This record gives sequence, C-alpha cells and structure tokens, in this order.
Amino acid sequence: MADLSTDFVGIKSPNPFWLASAPPTDKEYNVRRAFEAGWGGVVWKTLGLDPHVVNVNGPRYGVIHGADRRVLGLNNIELITDRPLETNLREIKTIKRDFPDRAMIVSLMVPCEEWAWKEILPKVEETGADAIELNFGCPHGMSERGMGSAVGQVPDYIEMVTRWCKQNTRMPVLVKLTPNITDIRYPARAAHRGGADAVSLINTISSITSVNLDTFSPEPSIDGKGSHGGYCGPAVKPIALNMVAEIARDPETRGLPISGIGGITTWRDAAEFMALGSGSVQVCTAAMTYGFGIIKELTAGLSRWMDEQGHERLSDVVGRAVPNVTDWQYLNLNYVTKAQIDQDLCIKCGRCYAACEDTSHQAIAIKEGRVFEVIDAECVACNLCVDVCPVEDCITMRVLEPGELDERTGRKVAAEYANWTTHPNNPSSQAAE
Ligand SMILES: Cc1cc2nc3c(=O)[nH]c(=O)nc-3n(C[C@H](O)[C@H](O)[C@H](O)COP(=O)(O)O)c2cc1C
Repeated sequence: MADLSTDFVGIKSPNPFWLASAPPTDKEYNVRRAFEAGWGGVVWKTLGLDPHVVNVNGPRYGVIHGADRRVLGLNNIELITDRPLETNLREIKTIKRDFPDRAMIVSLMVPCEEWAWKEILPKVEETGADAIELNFGCPHGMSERGMGSAVGQVPDYIEMVTRWCKQNTRMPVLVKLTPNITDIRYPARAAHRGGADAVSLINTISSITSVNLDTFSPEPSIDGKGSHGGYCGPAVKPIALNMVAEIARDPETRGLPISGIGGITTWRDAAEFMALGSGSVQVCTAAMTYGFGIIKELTAGLSRWMDEQGHERLSDVVGRAVPNVTDWQYLNLNYVTKAQIDQDLCIKCGRCYAACEDTSHQAIAIKEGRVFEVIDAECVACNLCVDVCPVEDCITMRVLEPGELDERTGRKVAAEYANWTTHPNNPSSQAAE
C-alpha cells in the first residue's frame, strides 16, 4: 500500500488532504467531524483581531452550474471569521489536543502593521497549532480595509509582513497568494525573500457570477445591490495549476514548498497538483458541495493509483511533471498529428463538422449518409473537433511516424527530429549542455 503520510515543512499529516481556510474549518464541530472522517489537516478559517467582523445577512454565495446542475464555480462575498478570537483559539487548542497527528494550520489576517502581528502570533502559538498561513488573498471585503489581496498585490508588503512573522514566531509560515495579479512569480518571490517556509495558492479570483436581468442587480444580491466576490471550484483549477507550475519552475523559487489549492474535487485533481510541485493540497468547494465523506474517495483513489504506478510515497510523485512544463518556443514543431474519426462510435451529430467548417480549417468533409471524414491535407491538428465531440474517444489524434508524409505541408515528418528533447537544434537541450 502506498504511503500517503506527509511531512510538509515539518507539518506532519496522515495524508496530504487538508481542508482550506473557509466555512468547513470555521469551528470545532466542523473540524472534529472532518478529522473523524479522515482529513489529514485543516487550515482554520481566517482569524483577525477583535473587534470581530460582521457578515452580510443576505445570500453570500453565487454559483455557476453545469447543464446537469453540477457546481462548476462558486463565488462568495463572505469575510474572515465572524466568531470571537478567544473562542476560535480555545477550540483550536482542544482540537489539536484531541487529534495530535493531524495538521492544524491557522490562517491569519490582521492590519498591515507589525504590532498587530506581534499581538496575535503568541496567542496562536499557545494553542499548539503546527503553522500559520498568512491570508494575503481574499479579494473582497477585507481588501478594501487594506488587508487580504490588498497586501498580496504588493510584493514589498508580502516580503515585509512575512519577515515580521518569521521574526516573531517559531511556527512555520505559509504565505497564501492571491491569483488577482498579472504574474504569480513576483508575490511568490517576495514571500521567499521574506523567509516564508512555503506558499499556498490559489485564493479566490475576483468575480461577478451573474446579473439578474429583471432587477439588474449582480448576484448574490443584497437588497438590490451586489459586490464582486471570490471565485473558486472546478472552474478555477486550470488557472491554479498554471500558477503552481510557474512557481515550481521559476529558478528564483525552485524548491520552495507549495500547498496547492483551486478546484480540487477528485484524487486525480490532487495528483495533478502534486505532479506540478504541490507537497500538500487543500480543498474547499468540493467539501462544501459534497460533504466531508469525499475524503475516503480522495485517499483511496490516490493510493490505488500510486500502487498501480509503483509509487511508494508521495515524494515519488511531487514535482514529476515540472520538467515537462516548458515555454512555447521549446515545443517540438516536428510532432505532427491528424484527427481521426471512429465511424462506429460516431452518432452523426455533425458538431465536429460545424466547428471545423465554420470556425477552423475546413478539414472535415460531410459525405452521403452524414458520414464525416477528416481531410488530412487540411487538418492542422488543432483538436477542436475532439473537444466539441460529445462522444468520448470518437475523435482522436493520430501521431504521424517519422518519415510519414504530412499531406498538409507536403513534407515528410523528419526522422532526425523524432527525439526533439535531446536534439541539438532544440534550444532547451542546448541550454542544458
Ligand atoms: C465561502 C468561502 C469562504 C472562504 N474564506 C476564506 C478565508 O477566510 N480565508 C482564506 O484564506 N480563504 C478563504 N476561502 C478560499 C479557500 O480557502 C480556497 O482558497 C478557495 O476556495 C479555492 O479552493 P477551492 O476551489 O477548493 O474552493 C474561502 C472560500 C469560500 C468558498
């Protein structure tokens, strides 16, 4: 059986699945039930300094549904915890005492002044928590007060606050990054310079999910008015994966531990985040949608896949995909593929034809009896037909062999470029020499 136990910057947990800082981790009742269900750790819902905050009393969530009403994206306008600091601290201490083998990380957001951090850090330390996570991410409510993403968008502030925390606590410091910036590497580098033990990402993406066309109020609507919120859930996973990979392969932050967050719903999602360099993963929307019980499928699926692949421990997986993330100019232009349609699977809906004929390269012919055929001489291998086809595996891409004729260019696939990774004309292989 694969070993799922995790040692992330000295924070130990029986598996890499932590609940992200959010309503599932807002109180003892929830966290106790989460740990009983098998979660490896939690990042406690963000604490601030009292006087505590007041949330809206109308709806705080908006959702983007798929056609089957599955939750694809979740938007929230919730603030940090609205429970008193002392209550939270007492509950954190109790839970850590009762579940010493689980990771207990406490998320913090206080004013961007050193006295505030000096005030809260010893109180958290006293609970026996394993680490703190600095919430430089929330895009709404707190950012207007100079906290959250207002700090996370200014690398100098990130560095300064991280340094204050490192100087004023013995606990490991995770810096949670906001995706609401243009280049994630700059805040990550700043956290690294400030002495962060790790970064966690992503927090939510600024968003308005919809507008009510009867009242013209953005949703969720509070008495006819709406405010931008933070977007998360499966829809944000591709954005999060890219940001994780950018940090993992940046020479200035290479080796900086990453806790991956953003749309993780299945063990597969988690494995992908790990392959791109995440040593632990955090889950929020999936738990809020399906409940704590999903941890069983997450751990069972991950360990079964690791067994099948012969990976004994998580360190065999973490970062394995990072060397395969490259810049566009290093992609092998001699790798040629062509679409092919499995006529036995085709349901003759014609979506591939409509997409290709109207918007792409006119590379699909419609023959008598609604038989669709790829015209190799026109196919640029864009993959759109594969993407729009409603039948899985009906359209696939065939890789041309070295020496085979590409009918579109009239050139044979160059044998000498077959192994592009090590070919001397590949700039990345030259750089490696
Ligand atoms: C309702 C709600 C409240 C949240 N509150 C916090 C918070 O207090 N602190 C924080 O760092 N992140 C907060 N988040 C962001 C999550 O921790 C997480 O970064 C984000 O939801 C992405 O993960 P997911 O796609 O698995 O939901 C919140 C998210 C939601 C949905």
